[in-house]
Amino acid sequence: MDIAAFIAPLRQLRLNKITRIILLLVLSSTVLFSVLTIAYTRSRDSSYMFGIPSALLRSNTSNSSFPPLERVRIPTTPESNTTTPSEVHEDVLLNNGTHRANATLLMLARNTELDAALQSVRELEEKFNHQFGYPWVFLNNVPFSKAFKEKMTEVVSGPVEFAMIPPHHWYQPDWIDEEKATQSRNTMVEENIIYGASVSYRNMCRFNSGFFYHHPVLQKYKWYWRVEPDVHFHCIVDEDPFLKMEENNKVYGFTITLIEFEKTIASLWKTVKDFIAENPHYVAPNNSMGFLSEDGGETYNLCHFWSNFEIADMDFWRSEAYSHFFDYLDAQGGFYYERWGDAPVHSIAAGLFLPKDRIQFFDEIGYEHHPFTHCPHGAGIIRKKHCSCRGWRSFDYQGYSCMRKWERIF
Ligand SMILES: *[C@@H]1O[C@H](CO)[C@@H](O)[C@H](O)[C@H]1NC(C)=O
Ligand SMILES: *[C@@H]1O[C@H](CO)[C@@H](O)[C@H](O)[C@H]1NC(C)=O
Ligand SMILES: *[C@@H]1O[C@H](CO)[C@@H](O)[C@H](O)[C@H]1NC(C)=O
Ligand SMILES: *[C@@H]1O[C@H](CO)[C@@H](O)[C@H](O)[C@H]1NC(C)=O
Ligand SMILES: *[C@@H]1O[C@H](CO)[C@@H](O)[C@H](O)[C@H]1NC(C)=O
Ligand SMILES: *[C@@H]1O[C@H](CO)[C@@H](O)[C@H](O)[C@H]1NC(C)=O
Repeated sequence: MDIAAFIAPLRQLRLNKITRIILLLVLSSTVLFSVLTIAYTRSRDSSYMFGIPSALLRSNTSNSSFPPLERVRIPTTPESNTTTPSEVHEDVLLNNGTHRANATLLMLARNTELDAALQSVRELEEKFNHQFGYPWVFLNNVPFSKAFKEKMTEVVSGPVEFAMIPPHHWYQPDWIDEEKATQSRNTMVEENIIYGASVSYRNMCRFNSGFFYHHPVLQKYKWYWRVEPDVHFHCIVDEDPFLKMEENNKVYGFTITLIEFEKTIASLWKTVKDFIAENPHYVAPNNSMGFLSEDGGETYNLCHFWSNFEIADMDFWRSEAYSHFFDYLDAQGGFYYERWGDAPVHSIAAGLFLPKDRIQFFDEIGYEHHPFTHCPHGAGIIRKKHCSCRGWRSFDYQGYSCMRKWERIF
């Protein structure tokens, strides 16, 4: 770090004065940069910086003029499947002193989806999270690669954890009759049903239906915002949707609602009706049956909330009603003998076990998951929230949308 030691050889080079000055400037800024980088890196590893408790520093992470010091712990061993920064779950105040919800942003991703995952995370950070600094949790059924963890760590503004899904939460259970499951997959392939052949898609649907909220890294959170690789957020989100849920006593939030492929859930509704017949006490008064059925519950109209976007309360999934419901469905084997999706499973549960006014439609969040986009109603919001989508492109009142059925129950 001794600048004189760098300058000595320059003298001997007999360079002209201007060249020397330029070289000197370049060298000294390099040295200054290294010093700052080392100081910054050290500060991230210690819980105190200049004697200020890290909790105070963290409370300013939402202020972009201040470097996000306690942002992340990068796992030191690439084979470690999870990092558990103990400070993540502390209640954090925003820099203006407002409360932040007990919430995380959540993404299930494969290592091969890094670019698509980065694009979703960058957009949500830009449109929302850089103001709020909510933590991220990334889940994978295999360990995340070093590249995934490093690249992702660079783009998030809050703390981040990378964790592996326990195998028994992911893989097809032993008691599933594989012959029967294979037969069903082959039939779906013949019928050209999307993901009809895929066992891993079925694993994912079952995991999202009944296991993610039991993952050890999610126990410390109540709320989650589910984010998938390769989605788009079209509008500025400057009002905290988690707090909106909390303040208005909501449990489940969505942006897009549509029709499910009937062949993937052929026996789901019958199973739901059997469950309800045995457990009528779980059904909430003032529920959303009018959204799910055209005939008072005799048949399912296939309407569901598109669960690739969800802002919801995990304590609902952890509740007795939902746990009992999931176990009942799971025991029928329909996640493998058919191809039950987590979207209809979540939607039916939220629709029946909650009063309808505890479900939130997030009109103001412009969201796109190919091939559908929800864009807020009205030029007013589109302008105010700087949306990059066009109202007329919104899926809400198009062919397969269930928005009108949602609206008719209010
Ligand atoms: C962080 O914000 C709080 C409250 O606004 C303030 O008291 C504190 O000095 C700030 N800390 C730093 C390091 O700027
Ligand atoms: C960040 O802090 C500075 C100085 O305290 C303040 O002027 C600025 O408005 C803050 N920015 C945000 C986004 O809160
Ligand atoms: C992480 O991996 C270890 C073995 O490598 C395993 O024992 C542990 O259960 C895994 N943790 C999670 C959360 O999957
Ligand atoms: C956050 O929510 C979880 C789940 O409800 C709970 O166990 C935890 O204690 C909560 N943390 C705080 C700080 O309130
Ligand atoms: C504090 O900041 C958050 C996020 O920027 C904002 O939603 C909230 O309205 C602010 N509260 C006050 C009292 O300024
Ligand atoms: C049923 O839900 C509607 C719509 O939110 C609400 O206006 C009404 O008060 C609720 N009725 C009862 C009995 O909870």
